[in-house]
Amino acid sequence: MPEAGTCRVWWARRNDLRTGHVKLLSALEQARRSGYARAADRDRFTLAAALLRLVVAGEVGVAPDRLRIDRDCPCCTRPHGRPRLPGHDLHVSVSHSGELVAVAATSAGPVGVDVEQITDLDYLSMCRHVLAPSEMGAVRSREDFFRYWTRKESVLKATGDGLRTAMTTVVLGPDAGHPTLLRYGTREGLVATIADLLPVEGYAAAVAVLVPGPVRVAERTAADLLADR
Ligand SMILES: CC(C)(COP(=O)(O)OP(=O)(O)OC[C@H]1O[C@@H](n2cnc3c(N)ncnc32)[C@H](O)[C@@H]1OP(=O)(O)O)[C@@H](O)C(=O)NCCC(=O)NCCS
Repeated sequence: MPEAGTCRVWWARRNDLRTGHVKLLSALEQARRSGYARAADRDRFTLAAALLRLVVAGEVGVAPDRLRIDRDCPCCTRPHGRPRLPGHDLHVSVSHSGELVAVAATSAGPVGVDVEQITDLDYLSMCRHVLAPSEMGAVRSREDFFRYWTRKESVLKATGDGLRTAMTTVVLGPDAGHPTLLRYGTREGLVATIADLLPVEGYAAAVAVLVPGPVRVAERTAADLLADR
């Protein structure tokens, strides 16, 4: 188990995927995998699901292919919701974008991780759907926009609400290098420790843990963990 107060974030790249990873997946995960038409989506999903199993196996001491991971969606019957580990005091979160996959694990509290490839989307026209009025002045570049996006989405994933809660209602404090949560939708008093992550150039990423902190964030590459399979 990660020591209380530590959150580990494991990073993988799409070319870390090996044929043996598919065998680690449960029948439900393999069925989901088969449903992806595009190779890039299928690879990202497979890599994330395999890495999640390998990371959790290392933390709780159960073989990766024997772990029970609950992925129930609260809104429908499909197994595409946030991953949960019944019987284990470990919180996890998964994100994938472009060539990258992230898996976060901590026993400190509910966790959310988000990585986004910084694309050429028209971010200026999206600001009003993402930023609260008090945040508008802080976003001066595409990189700022994606930094705010990932910070907010990490909190939304930690609560489990995802994009059902409007991003504009997740209000962050002034950006002084340490992101802070000022307000969260209609939930009074929600606290979160948020940290920017350092993936590779061209990506933004953040992790949030729903505790007042401090939380030590340790980022590491998953290349060796995945290569053994
Ligand atoms: C969670 C959510 C914000 C992720 O968006 P994204 O940027 O496209 O994707 P990311 O790669 O960062 O994260 C995807 C992972 O988030 C996790 N996830 C799914 N729903 C989640 C939720 N409500 N809370 C936290 N994590 C969630 C899954 O592990 C998923 O990985 P998987 O597809 O490999 O199983 C978005 O899917 C969402 O808002 N979902 C809830 C609303 C919804 O899906 N409604 C329709 C249900 S029928």
